Amino acid sequence: MPRLFYGALITPDALTKYRALPHALLCVADDGEIAWREDDVPSGRLQDVLAKRGLVDDPSVEFVQLKLGEFLMPGFVDTHTHGPQVPNIGSGQQHELLDWLKEVTFPMEARFADLNFARTAYETAVRRIINCGTTTCCYYGTLHLDATKLLADIVHTHGQRAFVGKCNMNRDCPKDYIEPSTAESMTATRAVIQHIRSLPPSSPASKPPLVQPILTPRFAISCTNDLMIELGELVCSDLTLAIQTHISENAAEIARTKQLFNVNTLPPPPDGPDEVVIKRARGTYAGVYDAYGLLRYNTILAHGVHLEAAEMELIKARQAGVSHCPTSNFNLRSGCAKVGALLDKGIKVGLGTDVSGGFSPSILRAVQDASICSKVVAMSAPNAPPSGFADRQLSVPTLFYLATRGGAEVCGLGARIGQLTPGRAFDALVVSTRTDAGNPAVWGADLDVRVHVGASGGEPGHEGGRGKTETEELEGMLERFLFCGDDRNIRRVYVQGKLVGGKECEV
Ligand code: GUN
Ligand code: FE
Repeated sequence: MPRLFYGALITPDALTKYRALPHALLCVADDGEIAWREDDVPSGRLQDVLAKRGLVDDPSVEFVQLKLGEFLMPGFVDTHTHGPQVPNIGSGQQHELLDWLKEVTFPMEARFADLNFARTAYETAVRRIINCGTTTCCYYGTLHLDATKLLADIVHTHGQRAFVGKCNMNRDCPKDYIEPSTAESMTATRAVIQHIRSLPPSSPASKPPLVQPILTPRFAISCTNDLMIELGELVCSDLTLAIQTHISENAAEIARTKQLFNVNTLPPPPDGPDEVVIKRARGTYAGVYDAYGLLRYNTILAHGVHLEAAEMELIKARQAGVSHCPTSNFNLRSGCAKVGALLDKGIKVGLGTDVSGGFSPSILRAVQDASICSKVVAMSAPNAPPSGFADRQLSVPTLFYLATRGGAEVCGLGARIGQLTPGRAFDALVVSTRTDAGNPAVWGADLDVRVHVGASGGEPGHEGGRGKTETEELEGMLERFLFCGDDRNIRRVYVQGKLVGGKECEV
């Protein structure tokens, strides 16, 4: 049954521009694809538009009228999080990365050997993440084969779009939480990939399937040379297999990486047209991944706080993407990533919560911290160039883009999701900034002072108020939601047209 959504709609267009439409009409087809969108349908024209489309009095069409103070937007994309660390959220902020892994993270992840524990933890985590408005999520599991299959099953059952990976880690980890050999790491990795690829399609229309496998070398430090070689061979024979890993997060981590992967002992660089760029980046962190063939168009690199200029060039040449995880980067004292510089280079950037380095599973928190991070960078560089993104604060349109479309591009889904435009999947949120959403910080778009100036109420984005246009009112709602909103404001969460979560959803 096709569904029509009528009301306010906000969708990103470009890094510096989004579209705020107070009276949009959007049609979602049975298969969960967006069939068409009309951008300006004031209530007086609604019947005409429906008649033109042959939809008047059609009982097979479901009509969803958004209320004043509500709007539709694309779902959030979390390009980097750790499912098994959700139970640790809020613990361990006194540490920096390497101690935090040892003291806080590895002990929790080791518990996922117990499938009962894993089931309870993952059920809770996935439900919570969906209700935060994350329609696509890139999950790290643990090193365990069965628990990671279970994570994929749970994500699949909940109807979220996701990438799920089993960690490869056979070096520099505690003896009760380490893979015993390269062979076992590879066998389990292949088994998880095969398991995920054989899940029944959740939606026939969704190509690629909603849940996809992703190769997950935890980070270079945790993988031996042999393991890195085999992982490189695996991706070389499987070009659609995405890759996720950590990069240049923390000074001690970078030093250890360079110590373990000596330039002189690295495999020769793979063939390619970018020889100069590759040579310049030899000896860098990105150069290590590249030497094993793990840096490519579908690689997601989390953090990138301390990237050198040469490795930014290499990342760009390989068309890899960066997951900016500002909450985690502040919390673990890793530093402020230079996101503006990455954007100026044309590198794909999305946002990541990096739970539990980051202490919130919500991309809203990542948006807020990405803003603060960019302001810290700007304050430390008073002579920012007059144009571009580097050394300047990120604007609301840019933050909105990173949280949605930018994330979609980082996961290779730029043509499928991230924008509410025809031909893309309906992965979307109904956001409410109304008083009855119960979040006093994003207060009363339904009441507003325009009630007092006598404007007629009831319709989304109606005229009135403090002399602002309807579009400006809507822009203000988006900004307040991004900076003060939370899951109370997320009424409905759709993936591929299916209602999968949100405050109004009983699943
Ligand atoms: N580097 C290696 N493992 C991890 C992890 O679990 N979290 C973060 N933030 N960085 C890592
Ligand atoms: Fe991480």
